[in-house]
Amino acid sequence: MSETNTVTYLKDYTQPDYWVTHVDLTFDLREGETLVSAKLQVKKNGDHHNPLVLDGEELQLLDVKLNNVALAKGENLTEGYMVDQKFLSLLPTNDTFTVNTLVRIHPEQNTALEGLFKSGGNWCTQCEAEGFRRITFFPDRSDNMATYTTKIMADQIAAPVLLSNGNLVDQGQTEDGRHYTVWEDPFPKPSYLFALVGGDLACLDDTFVTASGRHVVLCIYAAAKDLNKLEHAMASLKKSMAWDEEIYGREYDLDLFNIVAVDDFNMGAMENKSLNIFNTKYVLAHPNTATDADYEGVEGVIAHEYFHNWTGNRVTCRDWFQLCLKEGLTVFRDQEFSGDMGSQAVNRIANVRSLRMGQFPEDAGPMAHPPRPDQFITINNFYTATVYSKGAELNRMLHTLLGKEGFRKASDIYFDRFDGQAVTVEDWVHCMEDASGRDLSQFLLWYTQAGTPEVKAKWSYDHGTKSITLTLEQHIPTINNQSNGQPRHIPVKFGLVAPDGQDVVQGVLELTQAKQTFTFENVPPDSVPSLFRHFSAPVNLEAPYTDDQLRHLMIHDRDGFNQWEAGNRFLTTKLMEQIDRYERGQDILVGEDVLDSFRRILQRTDMDQELMSLALSLPAYHEIAPKREVIDPHAILAVRKAFLETLGRELHNKFLEMYNANYDPEKSYDRADAGRRSLQNTALGYLSHSGDAEVAKLAVRQYSQANNMTDRYAALNIIINMDEAQSYRDGVALHFYYQFANDALVVDKWIGAFARSETDGILQVVKSLTEHEVFKNPTPNRMRALYGSFSQGNHKGFHAEDGSGYEFVANFIMELDAKNPQVASRMIGAFEKFRQYRPDLQTKMETQLRRMASMESLSTDLSEKLQRYLGKEAFAQLRVGKSGV
Ligand code: BES
Ligand code: ZN
Repeated sequence: MSETNTVTYLKDYTQPDYWVTHVDLTFDLREGETLVSAKLQVKKNGDHHNPLVLDGEELQLLDVKLNNVALAKGENLTEGYMVDQKFLSLLPTNDTFTVNTLVRIHPEQNTALEGLFKSGGNWCTQCEAEGFRRITFFPDRSDNMATYTTKIMADQIAAPVLLSNGNLVDQGQTEDGRHYTVWEDPFPKPSYLFALVGGDLACLDDTFVTASGRHVVLCIYAAAKDLNKLEHAMASLKKSMAWDEEIYGREYDLDLFNIVAVDDFNMGAMENKSLNIFNTKYVLAHPNTATDADYEGVEGVIAHEYFHNWTGNRVTCRDWFQLCLKEGLTVFRDQEFSGDMGSQAVNRIANVRSLRMGQFPEDAGPMAHPPRPDQFITINNFYTATVYSKGAELNRMLHTLLGKEGFRKASDIYFDRFDGQAVTVEDWVHCMEDASGRDLSQFLLWYTQAGTPEVKAKWSYDHGTKSITLTLEQHIPTINNQSNGQPRHIPVKFGLVAPDGQDVVQGVLELTQAKQTFTFENVPPDSVPSLFRHFSAPVNLEAPYTDDQLRHLMIHDRDGFNQWEAGNRFLTTKLMEQIDRYERGQDILVGEDVLDSFRRILQRTDMDQELMSLALSLPAYHEIAPKREVIDPHAILAVRKAFLETLGRELHNKFLEMYNANYDPEKSYDRADAGRRSLQNTALGYLSHSGDAEVAKLAVRQYSQANNMTDRYAALNIIINMDEAQSYRDGVALHFYYQFANDALVVDKWIGAFARSETDGILQVVKSLTEHEVFKNPTPNRMRALYGSFSQGNHKGFHAEDGSGYEFVANFIMELDAKNPQVASRMIGAFEKFRQYRPDLQTKMETQLRRMASMESLSTDLSEKLQRYLGKEAFAQLRVGKSGV
């Protein structure tokens, strides 16, 4: 209920009254219930007479002891302990003491998937951010770092594998014929990094020898049927370990590193100390079942969680407001890693596109917040694009300002100074200052203020002095309590590209004032400024480029990102012009200039295949929509479709040539061929819009001959969506389903293909899937495959004129909220920008939001979002007389 939604403020942070320094945990895993006993070593912090207050939720308390003496439940703290829905309190008499508790929990009934839960018959945990309090009573806050000893007991047959953090120090049989293991983690850690796994799992093992000669055993656990899908994850792990040694000088610190893959997982993966727990989606990969994009996803997430061992675990966050300290930095590290493993330009383009599609709109909507927010109701709602992706951009800017060596020097200082501590964003930035001698106080505004800066560029050339004068002006939006519009410290990587294609000047400009002018001499006339190379700052750039200047950059810019950006800027302008026309009731015209720019790209022989396929892709719906003052989804779709059809028709022969040149079913699958496949499938995509019915046969041939999921899934999508392929649709779709019915991740893809299909009457098909056997006990992945793909990837269906798409998604969110509020709350994102939509659609979206807000009982997760979307007052009115969860 809104009244009980307490807001937590950064300014209220204080150290706890007590520190728990060591924990002994014993888990008795049984069918139907689990008993958890905990012995906490506690030390008073400071001089006071306050009670010890431990967090605990959904725990059945069976026993409490203080210094090994049983305590009774009291009416007040002088009589004994007190306990309610959220806390256990007791009054200690010494400065150091022990507390024992025994609780009963029910992992099999845990549908929220936070704390200890069961997935596919196995026990596993998810404690970040505040899940540990669902396992035992504890100061569940990230600044309490303790060492842990964990004993796990279970049935030998049901759970032959019993894992926790740290080193295995003992194992054996219990008296009643069960078995146990004992784990000791020597590194002090916050409770959110605790993990436990029990079950019947197979594993792939390997070893890694660190730079200083430590032999580390690596094990990746999964269900036995998936044992053949773990090699890529293992190779990725070894590459990550080597990369962190080479680039950051960080070695792994224990003799064992475990990864466990589970089907039921709210997020992608979790960095628990030495026992990472992963969503199967980011571990399993085999050419038959995973696409090239899946392979990249696995590599990136394995790296991300591994890198947390230093950025997050060894040095952790003081409080949850500092989340971007570990997440922003670790995302920056995983992005650089992925770039080094493949292509920096290709990765940068992908990351910037997702920043623009996710973070920029968030920063301009009702959820706008700084990367380091200063208040929240539910921390789970702040694992956002802003904390993650913008957080990563802030580290990238520091990297640009300090240079590679400066940044490394600063990170060395950071690990040296703060190892084993829980720290803040300021601590990190001070290391940057100490390493460089620079004043970064203005830079800190990036962390504490919301909003995407607008940078306006202008330039003029003086033929007399042969100089170019560049003026940069920054405009910072003001956002209620979240941004006061102060100028930011903005690094601008730039170059001046002369008519011969060479750079005459290059470097990094630092824009720190509202308006600044930079002059460069000895510049040939008609040189073109290339600004924000490699997207050196998360801003929107407005610049008066002519089409000719953009064409020049598209070909000659030495920065791969800005080559793509020039083309993207050109295409976006052309699409926006036509959407304006369409909205005025005029015809859509796909100009000769657009066709010509595609022809130029198709002619190029010097280009990386993946870059070429990116250059040949139209801006996505979610890239165009944020640029519209009022979003009419159907206008965006109509214009994109007209572009696809015209390009497909007019460049039919070129695309067919490209398709044939890259199509090669004889070749056995090889990851290195990802670029070839991306060109081949981009070509097939345009051909499928060309009106040539023969293309349906090409797609069916590709489907049947494919020896890898990339080609098979691309063909399936085309067959489902292409009008001329309708006679094949049901047969191919059924074939796909029956071939992969036992592989959950592939079934998710199958569902996603329908959920994203913008063919007529798709809502009926999608609704029927919710009745299908595949939707009996859906995992979060399956919910995302259906409702996530439909709401975020099916613009026609979700935004159906009659509001049926909105209602369909809202119904599901309302049902899910009681079971899994974290996933329900993330699913509502499709409604976030409702106020930007066409008035009639806006009203229909608002109706659904109001319906959700009027539910009898509402989780705090969902209520925080609804309160932000609808406004505090409107929300409060809808909650009158209602209760919370
Ligand atoms: N620490 C997070 C996982 C997490 C997020 C736990 C939210 C609890 C609540 C982990 O390191 C993470 O960031 N995972 C990402 C993937 C990553 C590659 C960005 C995820 O799960 O989406
Ligand atoms: Zn992370």
